[in-house]
Amino acid sequence: MPFTPGMDFAGVVREVGSEVTDFAVGDRVFGATLITRGGSYAEYVTAPAAIVAHVPENIPLGIAAAVPLAALTAWEATFNAAQRDGRAGNRVLIQGGAGGTGTFAVQFAKQCGAYVIATSSAHNHDLLRKLGADEVVDYRGARFEDVVDPVDAVIDLVGGDVRCGRSPSFAKVACWSRSYHLRTPRLSARPSQVVMAFACLTLI
Ligand SMILES: NC(=O)c1ccc[n+]([C@@H]2O[C@H](COP(=O)([O-])OP(=O)(O)OC[C@H]3O[C@@H](n4cnc5c(N)ncnc54)[C@H](OP(=O)(O)O)[C@@H]3O)[C@@H](O)[C@H]2O)c1
Repeated sequence: MPFTPGMDFAGVVREVGSEVTDFAVGDRVFGATLITRGGSYAEYVTAPAAIVAHVPENIPLGIAAAVPLAALTAWEATFNAAQRDGRAGNRVLIQGGAGGTGTFAVQFAKQCGAYVIATSSAHNHDLLRKLGADEVVDYRGARFEDVVDPVDAVIDLVGGDVRCGRSPSFAKVACWSRSYHLRTPRLSARPSQVVMAFACLTLI
C-alpha cells in the first residue's frame, strides 16, 4: 500500500467505533495522527478517539486544521521550558517566535508565568507583543547573544547557526541551562489539552 502523508486533520465525524462515547456522527473534530501513521492528506481519515478533540463552535474547520501539530509541539516544549522546576517567572527565549509554532509557544509560555523573549523580523514585533512577549529581538538587526540577558530556557524553532552551542557567540551568554530544539519533536500532549488552552488564546 502507498503511504499517505499528513498528520493534522479537521472535519466532521462520519462513523464511530462501538466503544466510542465522547464523539457522535456529525461532530466537528480535529487532531493529529501519529507521526508514523500519517494519512491525513486524504478525504477521510481514521483516528483513535483518544487523539481527537471537538472543534470550538467559533473556529472554522480550515483554521482548526492548522492548529494541532504546531500547538502540540509548542505545548510540549513550552511547559517543559517555562515551568522548569515548577517555578513561574522563568526567563524563556523563543527563537522564531512569529512562526506557526512560535506564536503558540509565546502564548503558552506567558500563560505559565514566564518572562518571554522572542526573536523575529521587526515587522512581527507588534504581533509578538500582542501575544504576550515581554521583549522582542529583530534577528536581522542584532545577534541575540549581544542583546539578550541570560535565560533559563530556550525554545529553538530555527536551528542552524541560531542553535545555542553552535553559535560563535554562545559563550557570551552565561547560563543557557536548557534548550529545546524542535527539529525532532517529542509529542505527548493530547489535542484536548490544547483545546482547553485554545479558548483563551489568540489565534492568528
Ligand atoms: N509547524 C509545525 O507543526 C511543526 C511541528 C513540529 C516541528 N516543527 C518545527 O519547528 C520549526 C518551526 O516551524 P514553524 O512551522 O513554526 O515555521 P514557520 O511558521 O515557517 O516560522 C519560522 C519562523 O522563523 C523565523 N526565522 C527565520 N530565521 C530566523 C532567525 N535567524 N532567527 C529567528 N527567527 C527566524 C521567521 O520569522 P520572521 O517571519 O519574523 O522573519 C519565521 O516566522 C521547524 O524546524 C519545524 O520543522 C514545526
